[in-house]
Amino acid sequence: MPLRITVIGTGYLGATHAACLAELGFEVLGLDANEDQVSALAAGRLPFHEPELGRLLEAGLHSGRLRFTTSYADAAAFGDVHFICVGTPQRADSDAADLSHLMACVDALAPLLDRPCVVVGKSTVPVGTSDIVAERLARLAPVGPEAELAWNPEFLREGHAVADTLRPDRIVVGVRSARAETILREVYAGPVAAGVPFLVTELPTAELVKVAANAFLATKISFINAIAEVCEAVGADVVPLARALAFDDRIGGRFLVPGLGFGGGCLPKDIRAFGATTRELGVSSVSALLGEVDAINLRRRARMVDLALELADGSLEGRAVGVLGCSFKPNSDDIRDSPALDVAGTVHGLGARVTVYDPAAMHRARQVHPELEYASSMADAAADADVLLLLTEWREFVEADPEVLGRVVAQRNMADGRSALDGDRWRASGWRYRALGRPDTQASADDSVSLTS
Ligand code: UDX
Repeated sequence: MPLRITVIGTGYLGATHAACLAELGFEVLGLDANEDQVSALAAGRLPFHEPELGRLLEAGLHSGRLRFTTSYADAAAFGDVHFICVGTPQRADSDAADLSHLMACVDALAPLLDRPCVVVGKSTVPVGTSDIVAERLARLAPVGPEAELAWNPEFLREGHAVADTLRPDRIVVGVRSARAETILREVYAGPVAAGVPFLVTELPTAELVKVAANAFLATKISFINAIAEVCEAVGADVVPLARALAFDDRIGGRFLVPGLGFGGGCLPKDIRAFGATTRELGVSSVSALLGEVDAINLRRRARMVDLALELADGSLEGRAVGVLGCSFKPNSDDIRDSPALDVAGTVHGLGARVTVYDPAAMHRARQVHPELEYASSMADAAADADVLLLLTEWREFVEADPEVLGRVVAQRNMADGRSALDGDRWRASGWRYRALGRPDTQASADDSVSLTS
């Protein structure tokens, strides 16, 4: 009989994991404390934007292999394997991770576990958390040590969540026994047969793999953005520089795109939490490194505001600014720690009238930033603007025609926060084009005119 699996926490990670496990042929019960979330998913409605996932959710519900509940008693009775996928956001009062949802979930589930099972942590946690969870399980579960803990971090990216779950780069499992390993091998038999590497470690190593991976990715982005700062100081161009670096296989071009930097629900809070953990552990090399990575990343936002000011001739007071993009990255409606929205808010704070357009994220942005105006198209956001800011590189912005947009704006000023546009093409259409880490070649051309005239 196929394993019966519960997935506790049906947010972004959990809903994806549950639907993908049902797709792989398992009987799956998704649990969430939020009744609205459970009824939406049970009715086949996704509470967030994710390509492919809606189809999998529908297929799972239709097959009868995927169901949802709010009852821990149902989950405990049902599951051979319980995946914990609850969120671990940044605490309001510090950089550390908030583990309250995770601990509440363990405390609710453990006392109901009266038959052998494996509880698998998937949430991103500070190293050492699994020891605390294991102790609680052992203390609270009626079945005792036969409710065993494992850790299995996930690496999915928003926008690619289904592919990243069904065919991940690698599967990492932290286990304490051969029995837990065997069960997790059964869960992931499909992807492993298709060639996905399966790595078995101790629990703390599995916990650390996830935060180390995100720390590396964030460091890579901040590295190229630190080089962009140097480029700005000397008039060099970070875009061809990054391209030249990328030809070196040891460096590679992925996560080396300079610009407004990283945001979202994972990288920022994960590097802060890892910084807090390593500070506590006395490993100051990592906390110092990640502190700088964070600072470089946040400085890009300030620099973007500088570019807007520069294009507005030094003051944004009363100026009309069109903002293209407010999600933290393209093809997502997620605005958590979005660099784009942060910049839009700051520019508004400096007195500008800010009109935002985003293909997917405006309903969320409106709730957090009601003071901004929202347009129903790119052209409407650009209408009568003194300055346009490209802050999230959605395809429709990257492919925008500078002539067409030029006809609706009040002044042809473009600040490109993602180095996504062909600056020469925009300049040829009469735009003043500025981008992070790139020289203002038009200004030097103007200088040479004024020198010769
Ligand atoms: C990330 C990790 O990639 C994933 O493995 C982990 O499980 C969760 O966190 P995600 O938050 O979905 O995934 O976004 P990702 O695609 O990694 O992008 C993160 C941010 O970095 C975005 O704001 C993006 O715009 C920015 N970015 C990315 C850059 O600024 N430059 C780059 O070269 C790449």
